Amino acid sequence: MQSKKLKKLITIFFVLFIFSACTKDLIVPDPPSPPPPPPVPGKISYAGEIQPIFTEKCVSCHGVGQNPPVLTDGKSYQAMKNMAGMIDTGAPETSILYIEMASGGGMSQHCNKANADSVLKWISEGAVNN
Ligand code: HEC
Repeated sequence: MQSKKLKKLITIFFVLFIFSACTKDLIVPDPPSPPPPPPVPGKISYAGEIQPIFTEKCVSCHGVGQNPPVLTDGKSYQAMKNMAGMIDTGAPETSILYIEMASGGGMSQHCNKANADSVLKWISEGAVNN
């Protein structure tokens, strides 16, 4: 008699357990969809943001007649365009200019990560002379 009661109790608990598990699954709502990405901020300006980096940090060694590419104001854009692989808008992070400026690159000692990031963003946006 005792064991029959116990079995009944166990069965009831078991059924309740399964039922509650199922009910929970049905009630739990889908996780909310992730928020939309933040709006794309304004494009990087070559004249306004990239050339000033070169002018401040690079032209002491990359002037006319010094180490290529020439990075002086008014000449830098064409000089870089003339060097194969310097700027690759198809695979921006493989651009020599970015590799040199990014952490571990030969020129990274002359600039900072924010400078390299700006250059990468500018290349990703099409590397226009804007
Ligand atoms: C102290 C001098 C000096 C400064 C400052 C300097 N560079 Fe250079 N740069 C060199 C020399 C020398 C080379 C060539 C040898 C080498 O690659 O290390 C070079 C090479 C490069 C190259 C590779 C060219 C190639 O043919 O592959 C790039 C790109 C470059 N520099 C960009 C920059 C940028 C951008 C800055 C400023 C953030 C900068 N450099 C600052 C001396 C300098």
